[in-house]
Amino acid sequence: MDGVQRQSEERMNTGAGGMTDKPIEITMVASEMFPFAKSGGLGDVIGALPLALGRMGHKVCVYLPAYRSIFREYEIEPPGQVSDVFSDAHYEIFSLEHEGVSVRLVAADDLFDRDGFYGDARGPFPDNAERYARFARGALSHMEHERAYPSLIHCHDWQSALIPPLLEYRRADDEKWSGVSTVFTIHNLAYQGRFHPDDFAHTCLPDEVMGMEGLEFHGDVSFMKGGILFSNVFSTVSERYAQEMLTEEQGEGLEGVVALRKNSLFGIMNGIDDAVWNPETDPHIPAPFSSAHPDSKAKCKAALQAELALDPDAGGPLCVVVSRLAHQKGIDLILETMDELMDSGISLAILGTGEEELEKGLAEAASSHRGRMAFVPAYDEALSHRMYAGGDVLLMPSRYEPSGLNQLYAMRYGALPYVRRVGGLADSVSSSPIPDRDADTGFHYDQFAPAEFLAGMEEICRVFLDQGLWRMMMRNAMEKDSGWDGVAPRYVELYEKAMRPQTR
Ligand code: ADP
Ligand code: GLC
Repeated sequence: MDGVQRQSEERMNTGAGGMTDKPIEITMVASEMFPFAKSGGLGDVIGALPLALGRMGHKVCVYLPAYRSIFREYEIEPPGQVSDVFSDAHYEIFSLEHEGVSVRLVAADDLFDRDGFYGDARGPFPDNAERYARFARGALSHMEHERAYPSLIHCHDWQSALIPPLLEYRRADDEKWSGVSTVFTIHNLAYQGRFHPDDFAHTCLPDEVMGMEGLEFHGDVSFMKGGILFSNVFSTVSERYAQEMLTEEQGEGLEGVVALRKNSLFGIMNGIDDAVWNPETDPHIPAPFSSAHPDSKAKCKAALQAELALDPDAGGPLCVVVSRLAHQKGIDLILETMDELMDSGISLAILGTGEEELEKGLAEAASSHRGRMAFVPAYDEALSHRMYAGGDVLLMPSRYEPSGLNQLYAMRYGALPYVRRVGGLADSVSSSPIPDRDADTGFHYDQFAPAEFLAGMEEICRVFLDQGLWRMMMRNAMEKDSGWDGVAPRYVELYEKAMRPQTR
């Protein structure tokens, strides 16, 4: 743990901000990128970090799967054909330019030409191992075909975690790869790409890699392990989560594997795209506002209350939730404490889709607390903006949270986050006990337990009555600079570290 902490601090103190004279050729490989494909925060990160690196003068290319939904929205030129360098498979590669970034879409037979990214109403697609093994192989095959060897490949989560081991073995056949380094970023350790051992065949890696020191994990094959063990350096999306990944509680069974490489592990808190998330210019919200002119936020609140049929005279703060409805997000704690929450005088608006049980529970709660609680079971990008703009408080009771972007958006829009003190939520929201709240940007609670969650909510209601203090906290939150332009230089430092000889 010390190793991680020390290195994170060291990096924070480099001062130079990672500016480099020499542009780096960076290729990202990821399964989501806003606005082409997004199911959560990964899409936001890949939609913004490459653009910020481009603004610094680096040359960036992103590989994405050629999902069917992208072709519904964008006119794309006919593809080029590429043969797989690892097998006799073939790919079609579509190309487009997006705000200075080259985007390549990898089509592999009909593997991505279906509705849904990772699954459908029946659950995850049964051929996900094949789909993302082909994605990784297709991306590398295309780079080789084009002789487009970047200085560095940055892969994200299990869907592109096979790139580092594939590259490791490909170097023997094509020495051009020897100058290419890899960085692997973990956005969520719980999703590991763990499959039946027979699925190892899809990786096209030599059999020896299916051992304990390779991709084998409790008899299965783990794509995530490939990214951790074979990358030059690896990272996650907050400093606190970098430490938490090493613990039994948050390590998701991989803590031992993470520990093997903890000296090559870094934590970098996510940023936000402040062109997309700006209440002064946001086309999705009914009235623009800013920290200097916050008054129109009240109009956004009134419009949201009207839109969701919430009582405008409830008195307490309007609390909003914008979330995947997954175990991670702790929405069950809200359900468990619903009656007490309503008694405390708050109103509640929840936007989210996911686990059936949670959707059912929230729909029932909304019908028993009409006018005080609204639930919208949808994925709705524009409504999410109106929720942050209209809400007084964002609830994010997450069991764990590698980074979290919702709380950053909420702060920008003057909705104070009420979060559990874990991962990126602990790193990005400042909260101190009364009466020292003058510099705070939100509220925390610690134990994932109803009594503690409710005690925090009572305190929020008390602070809400002190509108002078509330407005001061709102201003602190809105003025917090979380833009990617401040974060991208830290990735450049990480890339420079990965490109140093003998890393790994
Ligand atoms: P995670 O990636 O774990 O879901 P993050 O906080 O990093 O969590 O990012 C979530 C992203 O997904 C944010 O951009 C949030 O606004 C968006 N989001 C989540 N659920 C919805 C929804 N139902 N409708 C619109 N946007 C959503
Ligand atoms: C994951 C995490 C979330 C993070 C996002 C982007 O989905 O759950 O905390 O913000 O990735 O890094």
